[in-house]
Amino acid sequence: MCLALALSCGLLCSCGPKKAEGDKSVDSSGKKKIVVGFSQIGAESGWRTANTESIKSEAAKRGVDLQFSDAQQKQENQIKALRSFIAQGVDVIAFSPVVETGWEPVLQEIKKAGIPVILSDRAVDVTDNSLYVTFIGADFVEEGHRAANWLAKASAGKAVIAELVGTPGSAPAIDRKKGFEEVLAKYPDMKIVKSQSGDFTRAKGKEVMESFLKSPDAKQLTALFAHNDDMALGAIQAMEEAGLKPGKDILIVSIDGVRGAFEAMAAGKLNCTVECNPLIGPQLFDAVEAIMAKKPLPKRTVVQEGVFEQAQAAAELPKRKY
Ligand code: AHR
Repeated sequence: MCLALALSCGLLCSCGPKKAEGDKSVDSSGKKKIVVGFSQIGAESGWRTANTESIKSEAAKRGVDLQFSDAQQKQENQIKALRSFIAQGVDVIAFSPVVETGWEPVLQEIKKAGIPVILSDRAVDVTDNSLYVTFIGADFVEEGHRAANWLAKASAGKAVIAELVGTPGSAPAIDRKKGFEEVLAKYPDMKIVKSQSGDFTRAKGKEVMESFLKSPDAKQLTALFAHNDDMALGAIQAMEEAGLKPGKDILIVSIDGVRGAFEAMAAGKLNCTVECNPLIGPQLFDAVEAIMAKKPLPKRTVVQEGVFEQAQAAAELPKRKY
């Protein structure tokens, strides 16, 4: 009797969790998926593309419903996306802030809605640290130290430097400059004589380097510090078009460690890249799952990174994941 009832129930009704055909909000076992709203800065660099790919593929692997929004490098677009995540009632909001300031009001709105926030890659400048749960990303000041220490060694403490700065107001541009200058303060014969933003893009890096090379004092330049590899790669093109030998006439150190930088090092055109790891998808979703399970998280997780020179480029190239 019991078995008959159970069988008929199994055939005629669904006693377990319901799964409507094509319902993307539940997984194959009928369990509700975690919904994460992620606001990405844009696609300004090879680093950013690798970062987006790491986040999307990890979400897919874990069956997370990822609401992904590309802000095309505009803070106003990111704020709009964050507000739409509130309206959707997502479980967790994560974002990579294009600049450091101006987030307090929208973060207050998110807090009021009771949605936890994860900062991914870049920090925000807020007075109230309870506006986010955790920040996962690189130590940009340390990256600036590493770039300057490498240059000090390679130039025996003597360099006339041009600097290609990242997006104005962004955490990596502010911190990398700070870190680089902190080390330079110990070397009286190392000076930055030109400094301008190339907005972290290859096209702008090229354009700004062209203008540096056209200035009357261009011949003094012995080194270039680019806040990312894409700008360095653009600058290399500008140097070659001006008849210079990048990596020889002008020493070049940049940050990220993208494949293109390793190719340029193997070709002798770039001297050093300081790694900034974009593959933080796994750490991001570990944090999401910890939040959902109400487990405690550290306020800050620093991503581990290395420094690579020309001599290592050929051996490292096949191993690069981005
Ligand atoms: O925030 C990380 C930086 O942003 C990377 O160095 C740069 O390439 C990117 O656009």
